[in-house]
Amino acid sequence: MDLIEFATSPWGETVPIHISFVLMWVAAIGGLAFLIGHAIWVKMFAKPAEHPAPVSKELAATIPAKVPRHSLASRMFHWIMSVAMLALLVTAFVPKAGYEFAWVTYHWIAGLVLTVSIVYHIIHASFWLDFWAIWPDKIDIEDGKRRWMRATGKDAPAPRKFAKYPMENKLYHFVILLTGLSVTITGLFMMKRIRTPIFTRNPYMFGDMTWGLMYVLHGLAGVGLIGLIMAHIYFALRPEKFVITKAMIFGSVDREHYLEHHDPERWVLETTKKANEQRSGAAV
Ligand code: HEM
Repeated sequence: MDLIEFATSPWGETVPIHISFVLMWVAAIGGLAFLIGHAIWVKMFAKPAEHPAPVSKELAATIPAKVPRHSLASRMFHWIMSVAMLALLVTAFVPKAGYEFAWVTYHWIAGLVLTVSIVYHIIHASFWLDFWAIWPDKIDIEDGKRRWMRATGKDAPAPRKFAKYPMENKLYHFVILLTGLSVTITGLFMMKRIRTPIFTRNPYMFGDMTWGLMYVLHGLAGVGLIGLIMAHIYFALRPEKFVITKAMIFGSVDREHYLEHHDPERWVLETTKKANEQRSGAAV
């Protein structure tokens, strides 16, 4: 099976033109197999989660009943981005699956919405949010190794509670960042190949080989996103993760969830910081 389709340029050069769209089915079927495999594994083999030591009563008293997890701005970014992403997947792949329609205009418009929302997110996360909260730290890596050793039957200390984001969410964010940047950057250049009211068309901006590689990268990242988005929606709907999905709608998680899954010393809440300041002020 050829993964890439080639053509001969007017100069007799063999150049890639795009991915083979069989890959779209590979991603969709592979994604589905993963979801089914995961659901069976959880039902039949997964051990119940261990509950690490509870936090002190004094610390627990500083945690509000509703712990803010996502600001309104972050939630709006998430939902605008997800609508754009689904529109891009539908407009890109439904015609390839045989339901032909004039998809290109809808596609680049959704592409621009996604691009603007990503630019907004980068600025928002860099200057208003805790930029480092979404990157794995030393404890995540150590705990990842501990989890792996315990899952493979070896002795290892129990992993600790998470900071704001669990390790798997951080890894997912990193992969989606790479694929998202690949489709948006290539997509923006590809807009120069088609007629839009925004850019003057210039298909000679790059040579055939560069255009071909750009279409291939766009297509590869695009099919990768089929699997990634399937997994994302599946986990968002799983009963044990649904509390996180609800936080993406309403903005907060309950105190009980926070205390069970998160380490208050790694995800330090404003209320805890204030209580600590008051306590150290009173001690002076
Ligand atoms: C989820 C994200 C995306 C997916 C899955 C996706 C998928 C695709 C696919 C499969 C194609 C056909 C490529 C080919 O024929 O080789 C395509 C073309 C294209 N995409 Fe995307 N894309 C995404 C994001 C974007 C973004 C963000 C933009 C613009 C900012 C964009 C703009 C374009 C353009 C201009 C074309 C070329 C249409 C043509 O040459 O006829 N795409 N996309």
